Amino acid sequence: MEGLTVTICGGGNGAHAFAGISSLVENTHVTVLDIFEDEAERWNATLVKNGFRIKYRNGEVREQRPGETKFSVTRDVGVISRSDMVFLVVPAYAHETYLKLITPHLKETAIVIGMPGHAGFEYQCGSILRENGKSNTIVALETLPWACRYTKYGEEVDIVGTKEEVYCSMVNPEGSTTKKDSLMTLLQTLIGPKPVVKLCENYVKLTLMAKSTIHPPIMYARWKDWDGGSLESPPLFYQGVDETAAKYLDGVNNEVIATAERLSQKFPQHDFSGIPTMQDWFIHHYGDQIADKSTLVSCLKTNSGYEGLNHPMSKTKDGKYVPDFGYRYIVEDIPYGLVVLKQIADMVGVDTPVINEIVEWAQEKIGVIFIQDGRLGDVEREHARMPKAYGIDNIDILVSFFKSS
Ligand code: NAI
Repeated sequence: MEGLTVTICGGGNGAHAFAGISSLVENTHVTVLDIFEDEAERWNATLVKNGFRIKYRNGEVREQRPGETKFSVTRDVGVISRSDMVFLVVPAYAHETYLKLITPHLKETAIVIGMPGHAGFEYQCGSILRENGKSNTIVALETLPWACRYTKYGEEVDIVGTKEEVYCSMVNPEGSTTKKDSLMTLLQTLIGPKPVVKLCENYVKLTLMAKSTIHPPIMYARWKDWDGGSLESPPLFYQGVDETAAKYLDGVNNEVIATAERLSQKFPQHDFSGIPTMQDWFIHHYGDQIADKSTLVSCLKTNSGYEGLNHPMSKTKDGKYVPDFGYRYIVEDIPYGLVVLKQIADMVGVDTPVINEIVEWAQEKIGVIFIQDGRLGDVEREHARMPKAYGIDNIDILVSFFKSS
């Protein structure tokens, strides 16, 4: 591969994993751009002193020794003007901040990648590019390639699980033709052999596939009847699911599938088919990491890629635990997930009683009213990424937002 300059925006778990993995690819120059609090300074200092390690659950360790590390961390946005590919590896509520920061500095040929994008990434990014007179190609991944957590900030990341496959969208605001095949090859090279990156037929389908449909149903099932009492230890998140969680997971996903079916009827020239059931999604994405594939519940309970991942909890003064509703499983996945899906479902006349039930519970925790009396209201861009906040008032505008998709 010829010299490729990559910038990774962000400083959380995913940024740690991707910086470690992509910087080991030959002829690739990776810089992390991190403007959050003092992360850039902390990460750089640790990197210089202690190097960087990726730890896999099978015991494999990929190490970059101190003095031989292959990437650096900066808070200087100037790095963008030299970048061929700019990855946003942050929760969706930080996308706008990074997009506004980087867009004026983007080279004409640079590719902007939401990793993952979450619902609405493409039109948010497209709108900000257009406002700046730019027309860069946009890519959005349906989910992060790995389940990962940093174990020592700036120094060590644990890859808990690697997905088998991940879908992405690829669009261009003005329809110019990026060579899709070569871009897919580049993406695959940077991520490594797994997961296999696959191109989705169109961006609206990828929006429906974006995986903000997993955390809220599990949170709701576990905590909807919570009495406020503290727990001795944090419960397992994925591996702790029961039939109630499965009912809500399937319920949300079935409403998304119904939306895709309605879109197929209205736009037969586009392909919205094949959105998998929840159970099939886990089987396709985790493969043999799942010991018992017989039911949705068993797919989650016996998935080694989810080992040890707990519900987000806060510690009380007496050392016990209460749920943390300020975690991204709520504050990201509702405004950048379920309410976006709900507005698209509304546009094609699909009822979403299960999504409504979960959003009506979660919105109290977020402090923003999305749904009142069963109806979705208008919400400002700063609170959610619904199509109407971007001037996308109906389904025809949504489907034709990009000239190429
Ligand atoms: P994270 O929670 O570790 O990200 C936190 C980081 O985001 C912060 O350290 C900071 O660098 C940045 N950030 C947060 N608020 C910011 C703000 N207001 N302004 C600027 N920067 C800000 O998230 P993580 O785990 O890295 O996930 C990244 C994305 O991948 C999320 O969308 C997440 O839902 C998704 N994902 C993560 C998985 C995982 O195992 N970590 C698995 C599947 C998806």
